[in-house]
Amino acid sequence: MLTQDDIKNALAAVKYPGFSRDIVSFGLVKEISATNGAVSVLMQLTSLNPEAAQQIKLEAGRVLKALPGVNHVHVEVRQPAAGQAPNPFVSQNKVLGVKRVIAIASGKGGVGKSTCSVNLACALTHLGAKVGLLDCDIYGPSIPLMMGVHEKPAVSPEEKLVPPIGHGVKVMSIGLLLNDDQPVIWRGPMITKTIQQFLLAVEWGELDFLLVDLPPGTGDAQLSLCQTVPLDGGVIVTTPQEASLGVVRKGIAMFNKVNVPILGIVENMSYFTTPNGERVEIFGHGGGKVEAVRQNVPFLGEVPLFTEIREGGDCGMPIVVSAPNHPAGKAFVQIAETLRKQLG
Ligand SMILES: Nc1ncnc2c1ncn2[C@@H]1O[C@H](COP(=O)(O)OP(=O)(O)O)[C@@H](O)[C@H]1O
Ligand SMILES: [Mg+2]
Repeated sequence: MLTQDDIKNALAAVKYPGFSRDIVSFGLVKEISATNGAVSVLMQLTSLNPEAAQQIKLEAGRVLKALPGVNHVHVEVRQPAAGQAPNPFVSQNKVLGVKRVIAIASGKGGVGKSTCSVNLACALTHLGAKVGLLDCDIYGPSIPLMMGVHEKPAVSPEEKLVPPIGHGVKVMSIGLLLNDDQPVIWRGPMITKTIQQFLLAVEWGELDFLLVDLPPGTGDAQLSLCQTVPLDGGVIVTTPQEASLGVVRKGIAMFNKVNVPILGIVENMSYFTTPNGERVEIFGHGGGKVEAVRQNVPFLGEVPLFTEIREGGDCGMPIVVSAPNHPAGKAFVQIAETLRKQLG
């Protein structure tokens, strides 16, 4: 007797076309029935993709027919109706005019995720790329302060928000739309909606890179944001000691779940140099690299702990802009170069 699990196991051999993941782990299989050697399977795709649907149907039929005792197979693959795709990006798959969307994530707040986001955005600009920076940290938007951008976005004739520019980078943040002391008390769905608006209703224009500063953490909220944003890759920022706590692993798992390639790990607050040149490793050192090797993902580089980085953040002048030759500025530029190479 064939069980549902037998059938699921067999279907797990079918990859989603163009992906390394299988249709079962993608959650596409909705109904399975098996009686007297007749197997019937219903699958629901999340995007309108007739070619993928056809290929999945063929492949699934093939693996099911190969099961012992199966004499009749019926596979139905449903697609969302045109115009009804649940995710606005499945048909579009990109933000118009934006070549690459990169997320910056971290296990918790305070590790320097936003600091890395602004400095990498400025470093990529410095390297000649057209760059946008989207602050998805709805509860704690710090990008406007760190970029020195404070004016409210203008509205274009097409009723799109025009992102203000700081240090050559187009910036969008909830912090630009709310008054300073207005707390955000929205729940998840509203945040997702806002982020969608930030992608679709903002006049990003032509960009080589759109960097997305995700909210801290790697839980469900971040995961659903990763599904909302059409990401080309993810960067994980960690401190040396946090890396060893499995937090990096969770970040990697989050990106894996939504099929976002991991561009690598940045170790922030890696070391500190005292005024007389002594190197102090406040949070330990090398955890990021060790974890990158263990997880088989690229290690992008280490950023030292420097008062100037914090000061630059507070006055809207990222260190990459104010002191590109400072060791910290150089570290960010080097990471930006690596990222640019990786993404072609
Ligand atoms: N390498 C660094 N050296 C000095 N200060 C840093 C460094 N990285 C981050 N900071 C400071 O630490 C604080 C938290 O950084 P932030 O980028 O806001 O973290 P997150 O976005 O992860 O919460 C900020 O005040 C920032 O200026
Ligand atoms: Mg932040």
